[in-house]
Amino acid sequence: MPNSIVVGLQWGDEGKGKVVDFLTETADVVVRAQGGNNAGHTVIANGEKYILHLIPSGILWEDKQCVIGNGVVLDPVGLVQEIEKLEAQGVVIGEKNLAISNRAHVVMPYHKELDEAREIGLGDKKIGTTKRGIGPTYSDKANRNGLRLIDLLDTAVATELLEARLPEVNETLAKVNLPQFTVEGILSELAPAVERLRPHVSDTIPVLHQAYKAGETILFEGAQGFFLDIDFGTFPFVTSSSTSSGGAVSGSGLPPQAINQVVGVCKAYTTRVGSGPFITENDDFSDYMHNTLGREFGATTGRARRCGWLDTVLLKFSCMINGVTHLAVTNLDGMDERETIDICVAYDIDGERHEYPPAERDAWNRATPIYETLPGWKTSTEECTTWDSLPANAQAYLNRLAELSETKIGFVGVGPDREQTIRV
Ligand code: GDP
Ligand code: IMO
Ligand code: MG
Repeated sequence: MPNSIVVGLQWGDEGKGKVVDFLTETADVVVRAQGGNNAGHTVIANGEKYILHLIPSGILWEDKQCVIGNGVVLDPVGLVQEIEKLEAQGVVIGEKNLAISNRAHVVMPYHKELDEAREIGLGDKKIGTTKRGIGPTYSDKANRNGLRLIDLLDTAVATELLEARLPEVNETLAKVNLPQFTVEGILSELAPAVERLRPHVSDTIPVLHQAYKAGETILFEGAQGFFLDIDFGTFPFVTSSSTSSGGAVSGSGLPPQAINQVVGVCKAYTTRVGSGPFITENDDFSDYMHNTLGREFGATTGRARRCGWLDTVLLKFSCMINGVTHLAVTNLDGMDERETIDICVAYDIDGERHEYPPAERDAWNRATPIYETLPGWKTSTEECTTWDSLPANAQAYLNRLAELSETKIGFVGVGPDREQTIRV
């Protein structure tokens, strides 16, 4: 089996968790390589709903090796809570099936406060972060004053690093009346989580390379979405990691040729949580999703997601940069009752047609969508199990989506359950 990466092509919450879960059946190793517990990946299987934040979705299958790679930023307390919640749901998590990179940077309690402080400071220009401390942790990593798990495991090292870091942290927090931190306070707050995680922490690079050399099937689980990527996203309304397929290489320590297949996940429409441009956003469609269908509420923060029509300007760019070999189109069933469906094929910016997203910040405010309108199918697709069983208009919609994205479709989701996946 080829090694695959599953990446989100929009602004996150495309259904990556479900697609990863589906592909895990034929994988041996599942790796997370970036992001942190800002992610919320939902898997519905065997009548149970699981939400994964830091742990690869592969943990739900027996005998799969799950790895949290060096590129992830890890909140120890959050991770222990996640482990306990999954264990309460009957998931077995042991040293054998969950390995955590000792090089992963740690989300410290003060990073969450710094995240809050930054958002307060931005006022109405705030990013709308998940407040999980992601930006400040990646900033400290880039700034070379962050702590990695290996540092935290050694109290003497952690103490020295915290003593150097805390004065500036406390100064920043004092300005917005947020709590002050002490070295002892932090270490005692984290100690139980650190001890719980210690047996899982190791150098994951040899583990991954052994699996790679042995020809085991490796599956990378992307987090967030391509337009939240620090380089390619709608900057500054992005997250702080490389969410594209390229990020998986530096975030895991495996070489580029270890990835043979790129599965790009997109919804049959578009959603976004937090602030930032969204050209095809549509209030009526958002209301319909929230009030009529009762869906599109965030898995991590519970916030209502902004909803709109499919934007193939975004999709084409995502597919191109990520090297998507197969599209996984999820939530097709969300369109089942629509009379007609709009699909954005280009942007109009100052009277000119654009087929790629702009880099200039203000151009996003001047862009308007150019739509094509397709007929709906007004039939439930939830029970469809094959491409041929999909209504003709649903097939036509998907074919147009693939054509505009210049990428073939490999999977179609017609419901949240593991079983509601059509292989094309
Ligand atoms: P992720 O962050 O990309 O893993 O996506 P989330 O789990 O945050 O959000 C996707 C939502 O869509 C979740 O509630 C999933 O259960 C749901 N979902 C995924 N695929 C489908 C689908 O094909 N149809 C429906 N109705 N729901 C889906
Ligand atoms: P999954 O993996 C959707 C968004 C936040 C905010 C911006 C920056 O479930 O698809 P951050 O806390 O990362 O600094 O917030 O990014 N965001 C997500 N939106 N799904 C996610 O993850 C997200 N992770 C971050 O809402 O707009
Ligand atoms: Mg999500």
